[in-house]
Amino acid sequence: MLFRSVVVETVLAGGLRRAFVDCPQLESALLNLSVNARDAMSGGGRLTLETSNASLDQAYADSHLEVAVGQYVLVAVTDTGAGMTPEVMGKAFDPFFTTKGVGEGTGLGLSQVHGFVKQSKGHVKIYSEVGVGTTVKLYLPRDLSGRVVEAKGETLSAAAIKQRFTVLVVEDDAGVRQVAVGALRELGFKVVEADSGAVALERLGEHPQISVMLTDVVMPVMDGRRLVEAALRQRPDLRVLYMTGYTRNAIVHNGMLDAGTRLLTKPFTVDELERELRAMLSDRI
Ligand SMILES: Nc1ncnc2c1ncn2[C@@H]1O[C@H](COP(=O)(O)OP(=O)(O)O)[C@@H](O)[C@H]1O
Ligand SMILES: [Mg+2]
Repeated sequence: MLFRSVVVETVLAGGLRRAFVDCPQLESALLNLSVNARDAMSGGGRLTLETSNASLDQAYADSHLEVAVGQYVLVAVTDTGAGMTPEVMGKAFDPFFTTKGVGEGTGLGLSQVHGFVKQSKGHVKIYSEVGVGTTVKLYLPRDLSGRVVEAKGETLSAAAIKQRFTVLVVEDDAGVRQVAVGALRELGFKVVEADSGAVALERLGEHPQISVMLTDVVMPVMDGRRLVEAALRQRPDLRVLYMTGYTRNAIVHNGMLDAGTRLLTKPFTVDELERELRAMLSDRI
């Protein structure tokens, strides 16, 4: 196994302030950074996850575009791996930039991290040296509201809960796609659309807030299963619901999907769609 010889260590500061961010996206970012660290340490090494309170001052803001002076919560991921050349570092956040082989890298990991940090009004910085290792620092703005964090879901209405979730609909048939999109909007979800697997992967990079992908199984070029494999490499926390016009038996029988996969058979009702999504998201509501 590649990561057997990697030591994982955490250095968590006491008295850490609260940051105001979307938790699933932070989890995704940490997973993406940890996967990159693992990939960089094929010969073994040390992965360190660190947190501390931090402030960025005027001098730092002057030398970094779009940095606001102020208080932050710092989350840093450090590896003792291969490191990056300045050239790679310069492109690392670009969507689809990868130095990994086909099927190994999508080039969307750091673009998710970047999108998340930007949306959080934070700042991300890479320090890396070839042959020594890499540190990625996420500066997340402190939550200065002084507000007590509400217990999960307790005070939120069902509609407000759904508005927190964005669903990516992937379906090559425009008519069927409109039906699914309409049903989701009726249920109160935010919706992003894609008419192919390639477009879906692009949308995932652009919209880090997507938490569920509803995808057709049989599509030209990239079928649902291959799309899901690529999407999960990029967003390991993504929830997936398949939809198909075939029967469940036909799909599982042909090896198109594993038994036990969440699958809606078309035509489905708005109620069925809601039931599936609620079941999938129950631990996040
Ligand atoms: N911790 C790291 N150590 C060395 N190189 C890295 C590290 N993280 C990212 N990179 C470089 O940045 C590129 C882009 O990373 P990423 O967006 O996560 O895409 P992917 O991992 O799919 O290639 C990687 O292909 C690699 O060259
Ligand atoms: Mg990656």
